[in-house]
Amino acid sequence: MATFEAQRFVASHVRSIPRSGIRDFFDIVQGMKDVISLGVGEPDFVTPWHIREAAIYALEKGRTTYTSNLGLPRLRAVLAEHLAERFGVKYQPQTQILIAVGVSEAMDLALRALVNPGDEVIYHEPCYVSYSPSIVLAYGVPVAVSCRPEDGFSVTAEAIERAITPRSKVLILNFPTNPTGGTMTREELLKIAEVACRHNLVVLTDEIYSELTFEGEHVSIAALPGMEERTIFLHGFSKAYAMTGFRIGYACGPAELIEAMMKIHQYSMLCASIISQEAAIEAILHGRGDTERMREQYRLRRNVIVKALNDMGLSCHLPRGSFYAFPCIRSTGLSSKEFAVRLLQEEKVACVPGGAFGPTGEGFVRCCFATSLEQIEEAMRRMARFVERVRR
Ligand SMILES: Cc1ncc(COP(=O)(O)O)c(C=O)c1O
Repeated sequence: MATFEAQRFVASHVRSIPRSGIRDFFDIVQGMKDVISLGVGEPDFVTPWHIREAAIYALEKGRTTYTSNLGLPRLRAVLAEHLAERFGVKYQPQTQILIAVGVSEAMDLALRALVNPGDEVIYHEPCYVSYSPSIVLAYGVPVAVSCRPEDGFSVTAEAIERAITPRSKVLILNFPTNPTGGTMTREELLKIAEVACRHNLVVLTDEIYSELTFEGEHVSIAALPGMEERTIFLHGFSKAYAMTGFRIGYACGPAELIEAMMKIHQYSMLCASIISQEAAIEAILHGRGDTERMREQYRLRRNVIVKALNDMGLSCHLPRGSFYAFPCIRSTGLSSKEFAVRLLQEEKVACVPGGAFGPTGEGFVRCCFATSLEQIEEAMRRMARFVERVRR
């Protein structure tokens, strides 16, 4: 009888995608003691009590069923109002909003609903680690537009236009950006919108960090003239309300596209957890103050970490949004992976090698400042000691 070789049964497009570099690295971190982690991009705050309480009440009241595939009507209704007020975008709660299991699922649904095998999906890099694998899993072709450190890692309309071919179908944008903390002005977005319209692209805009904008006003590309009809707006509760474990996010867009996404969702996930949806209603209705308090804490920490990094000679631009600092470590002569591994081994500080976010991230490391000020200050003391030793 032939021996069973499990590996041979894994689909080739799944075999072709790498494991997440971040997860592997943090499995090592988990096994070590006394490490200060500037690694995983997760708020250190516990979900505000009134939001947790709403989840508890849902359980107490026996709210333990499936919901409509699109999500609780009440959640969609309060979201529609919130989005109109906050972002200036208008969506019909009955047909244009889909509640998903995080932005992660919403992005996956959007790609699977839009992409035919071989269609090209353009995104800007360095970027969130899941974009390229998610495109491959939807049988698309990932096309990265590299953003240069000397431009502050901003993506330009010209760079996007150069990447467009007759197979281009979708453009993914993420502002504020993970891992660089960059944001976009209305003028910059208007130019990108014009390119998207001229080349007939659908835009998937991941605005999960929009509440964590420190300078200027966050503008959604979905709110620009002519864009609502060709944009899928993705957002969620993980970062703004410290609700990562609730796994709750949403997609808004043209009814036909939301319907296509809903079909996949209904045969795979079915619906997001009703308990999380109840908690999300509370977050939208009464969580604004919590978000503002957390943002002010992040701002304080950002100022401390960016100053400390620059003081130790690792040049670091001021992130205008998100909770990531992205310093250049080239002056140490180490690759980003060597830097991260040695910093962990020698000083017990964990950060993410920039190469994990695409080749243009090489020469940088990502330091998440969603951790206490004391931890950040201690991490910076250790990192300064390490950098000085390496340079000697
Ligand atoms: C840019 C970006 N999009 C999406 C996600 C995933 O969000 P969610 O927890 O809603 O799935 C993350 C998480 O780090 C992220 O950084």
